[in-house]
Amino acid sequence: MTRQLPRAMQTDLTKIRYLLALESSCDETAAAVIDRDLQVLSSVVATQYELHQTFGGVVPEIASRAHVRRILPVIQESLQRANLTLADIGAIAVASQPGLVGSLLVSLTAAKTLAMVLDVPLIAVNHIEAHIYACRMAAGRDVFPAIGFVVSGGHSNLYDCRSPVDFEMIGSTIDDAAGEAFDKVAQILGIGFPGGPAIQKLAERGNPKAVHFPRTFKNSDKLEFSFSGLKTAVLYAAQGAPGQRSPVEPLTEQRVADLAASFQAAVVDVLVAKCKLALQQRGRTALCVGGGVAANGPLREQLTKMTKKLGVELHVAPLSLCTDNAAMAAIAWEQLERGRLADLDLDVTPGLVRNR
Ligand code: KG4
Ligand code: ZN
Repeated sequence: MTRQLPRAMQTDLTKIRYLLALESSCDETAAAVIDRDLQVLSSVVATQYELHQTFGGVVPEIASRAHVRRILPVIQESLQRANLTLADIGAIAVASQPGLVGSLLVSLTAAKTLAMVLDVPLIAVNHIEAHIYACRMAAGRDVFPAIGFVVSGGHSNLYDCRSPVDFEMIGSTIDDAAGEAFDKVAQILGIGFPGGPAIQKLAERGNPKAVHFPRTFKNSDKLEFSFSGLKTAVLYAAQGAPGQRSPVEPLTEQRVADLAASFQAAVVDVLVAKCKLALQQRGRTALCVGGGVAANGPLREQLTKMTKKLGVELHVAPLSLCTDNAAMAAIAWEQLERGRLADLDLDVTPGLVRNR
């Protein structure tokens, strides 16, 4: 079994100054250089929107092929922008879970190769936990313990974060993730991909009270989400339900904007309600929100109102750290400080490991 290389094992971890982090869990190829003080020296993200746009969602095979083509130029650019060379890099961090298996494998292979060739420590990062850690980076100080909430294209997960290395998952979705719902509803409404930003923009011109869409589980005392019923409700409102006798309202520009605004209001309502429940159930006084959907303006506004009322500190990841990036893999410094290094036989874990 291959473990760390000899020099990497003997490295004085306190002497490491720069960490190179890699990320390719879904459809973004990213690399970042972060120093020990969590300063981001460079963060390069190559998006693939244009490759998946016509399909209305990420096509795994296309994503992994694009990662293969892009990973080396992205790494090179991250070093150039940081004004460093590989010789300056003291450790390699890589998001090894969760995500698309073919996508994850690209940065994992690059990371293991670099760790081996440079003979430096390798650190495995949980992409979802990194999304929460983006809040810690932006705050510039410790924000834990806190409730962590990751709302992205693949996840709607709540965590009780006792420390930066002790996250317990306490809630998730039983079907679609919130971002997935945004993407699918955008497809129903024919307004492009990724759906989140498109719906938010359109919703500005719509009436959020035009249609009262379902708010599944909003009033339950369980920390779980479900968005598939909401998605179907939007579909029926736009195109009619099977066997529906009454005519469907014509999809005028205004009607599409109203549906977008009403859908967004329903999602935001549920997300905010569950954050509140998690805070109350766990008695935490801080909330950290990350992931692509955390870029949503109305969600940010409602979270601000709710936490203000509860007297809770709110940390929402800055826009640059909301969608996928490698800078948030700076959480690897926390592991490094505690000597938690990965073996060189590290593998990807596509699904999320529930246990801490
Ligand atoms: O975190 P992320 O970049 O990738 C995953 O790990 O999934 O999140 C992407 C998701 C997409 O579903 C996208 O539609 C959504 O984040 N998103 C938004 C907004 N910006 C991105 N959703 C709502 N409002 C936004 N402004
Ligand atoms: Zn993500």
